[in-house]
Amino acid sequence: MTGTIYVLNGPNLNLLGKRQPEIYGRETLADVEAAAVETAKAKGLSVRFLQSNAEHQLIDWIHEAREEASAIIINPGAYTHTSVAILDALNTFEGPVMEVHISNVHKREEFRRHSYVSLRADGVIAGCGTQGYLLAIERVARVLGAS
Ligand code: DQA
Repeated sequence: MTGTIYVLNGPNLNLLGKRQPEIYGRETLADVEAAAVETAKAKGLSVRFLQSNAEHQLIDWIHEAREEASAIIINPGAYTHTSVAILDALNTFEGPVMEVHISNVHKREEFRRHSYVSLRADGVIAGCGTQGYLLAIERVARVLGAS
């Protein structure tokens, strides 16, 4: 076990804090990263926090995680609802996978209610704002026996 959690963020999440703040809040992704690092540290774990707008980059990071990470936390953004390729990549990863959505995707448009990623995720957190990332770290720590 490496003790490293890969926290992967998909398209448009680089604009967190500026993009539709009424839905996603005013915290930036850098704020979330700082809180995630602290939460993981308190559990004796570390975080590699990454964001890309490109599907292939997210897939490459999932492949990298096969060697480098004990768990993956992923907010795939809109790829949640479209990407069989990200699902296939996650299916090659053996550790725990948590899916996080800042908004409650079940309270929004119908197309957001289907997630390819949920076919692999061990747990899903939606609608808890950016706290969802921290809750996912707590869960991963528990599953890995780090807390
Ligand atoms: C999201 C929800 C998705 O439907 C949307 O496309 C996003 C963000 C969330 O965090 O609530 O980009 O994953």
